[in-house]
Amino acid sequence: MSWELVLWLLALCAPLLLVVQVLRFLRADGDLTLLWAEWQGRRPEWELTDMVVWVTGASSGIGEELAYQLSKLGVSLVLSARRVPELERVKRRCLENGNLKEKDILVLPLDLTDRSSHEAATKTVLQEFGRIDILVNNAGRSQRSLCVDASMDVYKELIELNYLGTVSLTKCVLPHMIERKQGKIVTVNSFMGIISAPLSSGYSASKHALQGFFNSLRTELDNTCPGIVVSNICPGPVQSNIVKNALTEEVTKSLGNNRDQSHKMATSRCVRLMLITMANDLKEVWIADQPFLLVPYVWQYMPTWAWWITSKLGKKRIESFKSGLVRTIYIFLNNTYQSCRKVQNFPVLKKLSY
Ligand SMILES: NC(=O)c1ccc[n+]([C@@H]2O[C@H](COP(=O)([O-])OP(=O)(O)OC[C@H]3O[C@@H](n4cnc5c(N)ncnc54)[C@H](OP(=O)(O)O)[C@@H]3O)[C@@H](O)[C@H]2O)c1
Repeated sequence: MSWELVLWLLALCAPLLLVVQVLRFLRADGDLTLLWAEWQGRRPEWELTDMVVWVTGASSGIGEELAYQLSKLGVSLVLSARRVPELERVKRRCLENGNLKEKDILVLPLDLTDRSSHEAATKTVLQEFGRIDILVNNAGRSQRSLCVDASMDVYKELIELNYLGTVSLTKCVLPHMIERKQGKIVTVNSFMGIISAPLSSGYSASKHALQGFFNSLRTELDNTCPGIVVSNICPGPVQSNIVKNALTEEVTKSLGNNRDQSHKMATSRCVRLMLITMANDLKEVWIADQPFLLVPYVWQYMPTWAWWITSKLGKKRIESFKSGLVRTIYIFLNNTYQSCRKVQNFPVLKKLSY
């Protein structure tokens, strides 16, 4: 075969590959590295069994679902949050539906903002199970208030909980992992750690801070202790109680209801992709249904466009929030995306994606 023919073939294949990637992306609910790991990578069922996993924020939402899926894999579980009755409820369901026995689950009450309690909590886990293989930093709260209206206490609380609380617990567990030269530190960040949106200035700041902290920690460990994996998980909208529990203008006032969540990703799917992240030691993953998944890509690769779009959509988000209709913006995005998708709804294209 002549070189000329090879070059022609390459020139023909390149656009085809591009089309395939675009089609894969349009149907994706996670970044393409994550979906590749789901298709070709290691299964959580092989990799995570028998591990000791400590989950914060296990009394609700993503953390609760994570407890259920982990309990089916046969791990030893530590469930932490502030509300003990809720943790006991989660434990009961893990025992009913999972592959665990009473001795495999420890309910460990923990207030992430009470940093003085973190050392003792870590010792309790080590006394109970002898090791910590995976720390899942999941607990957190969001925000729904404009910067001009939010008190400084709201910003303090978001940084204390989402950022400093997470850093403090990580620093308590880290020496143990360094001693063993292995472990996984998995942090549930957010798209708000990559992008920013109105009504969430304090939340976004706390998640950006986490992103910076864990990216930096990873580079330190890469050189000193490469057996410790640091994974940042960045979900978009996922069904949970995050909106209900969001802080408003005052630290004592939360939003109080979740509104309709049908447009958000199912919690079970988000958690499955989180388990795949852990099993494959991925450093950073983005998880969301389209069109939300597109947003961090635009922020990362086309920042000028991102500012323009965010400004337009942000205005709508504020107006909708003020009139109690935040959801209209999601529906608008979703409808636009669904109409675009109809044009590529051929069976052959479905086979190309996974
Ligand atoms: N749902 C989404 O759309 C979404 C998107 C991106 C990122 N996230 C992130 O996902 C994580 C989990 O949130 P979620 O969506 O599952 O919300 P959620 O249903 O409200 O759960 C939040 C969890 O955090 C715990 N928590 C709150 N304050 C705490 C404190 N001071 N100390 C210890 N635990 C505390 C809560 O338990 P107690 O009240 O019992 O303490 C609860 O278990 C958060 O970090 C959030 O930022 C969520």
